Amino acid sequence: MKTTVDIEFLNVIFYIFLGFLLMAIVIIVFFFKSRKKIIEKELEKKNLELSYQKELLRAVIITQEEERKRIAQDLHDDISSKLNIVSLNTHLLKTPNLSENEVKDITENIISLTTKALDSSRTIAHNLLPPVLDKFGFHAAIDELSLEYRTIKSVVVNYKNETKNEIFSNEVQLHLFRILQELMNNSIKHGKASEISILVSKKAATNMLVYTDNGIGFELEKLKNKSGLGIKNIESRVGFINGKMILKTSKNEGIYVMITF
Ligand SMILES: Nc1ncnc2c1ncn2[C@@H]1O[C@H](COP(=O)(O)OP(=O)(O)OP(=O)(O)O)[C@@H](O)[C@H]1O
Ligand SMILES: [Mg+2]
Repeated sequence: MKTTVDIEFLNVIFYIFLGFLLMAIVIIVFFFKSRKKIIEKELEKKNLELSYQKELLRAVIITQEEERKRIAQDLHDDISSKLNIVSLNTHLLKTPNLSENEVKDITENIISLTTKALDSSRTIAHNLLPPVLDKFGFHAAIDELSLEYRTIKSVVVNYKNETKNEIFSNEVQLHLFRILQELMNNSIKHGKASEISILVSKKAATNMLVYTDNGIGFELEKLKNKSGLGIKNIESRVGFINGKMILKTSKNEGIYVMITF
C-alpha cells in the first residue's frame, strides 16, 4: 500500500518536473526567438539608416556635379565665347591698311565685349559666393536675398532676426544661406507662395531658424517618391552644422521648417 502511494507521489513529482522542464524549454525558445527578432529589427533599422545616409551623400555628389556643369556652361557661354571674339578682333587690328573707321569699330567691339565678359564673371562669382555674405555676414545676406526675391519675384519676404546679431561661423552661415535659397526657390517653384517668413532666434545656447510659406504645401508621404535633390541637400547641410530639422506641411497648408543648431 505504502509503495503504491510512493510510486504515485513520485509520478506526480515527475510530471510536475516534466511540466516545469517543458515550460522552461518554451520560455528559452521564446526568449531566443524574440531576441533574434529584436536583433533583426535593429539590423534592419541600421541598414535603413545606412542607405539613407548613402542617399544623402549621393544627393550631395550629384548636386556638386550639376553645379560644376552649370559653372562650366556659364564660363563657356558667357566668358570664353566673348574672349574668343575679343581675341579675333585683336588680331584683326594687325591687318595692314585698316581705315580709321575700321580701327574705331574693332576697338569699340573689343571694349564692349570685355565689359560684358567682366560683368558675366562678376555674376558667376556672385552666384558662387554672394560677396555680402563674406563681407557683412549672414543677416545682411538674408536681407539682400529677401530684397532680391521681393523685387524680382514679387514675393513678400518677412525676415526677422531676434538674435543680438549673432555671428555664425563662415561654414554655418554658408550652409544656412544655401538652405534658405533652396527653401525660397521651392516656395516659389512648387508652392506658388506669395509670402515667406524667416525668423532667426536664439534661446539659451540653441540657435533656431524658422521658415514658413503660404503656398500650396505638399503631402510629406509623397516626398520619398520624388527625385528632387533640394530637400535631401538641406538635410545634409543640417547634418553638417550638427543641427536638427523638423518639416511640417500638408496640402494647402504651406510649409513649416524649423532648424535648430
Ligand atoms: N514649399 C513647397 N511648397 C510645395 N511643395 C514643395 C515645397 N517644397 C518642396 N515641395 C515638394 O517637394 C518636392 C521635393 O522638393 P526638392 O527641393 O527636394 O526637389 P525639387 O525642387 O523638385 O528638385 P531640385 O530641388 O533638385 O531642383 C518638390 O518636387 C515638391 O513637390
Ligand atoms: Mg528644390
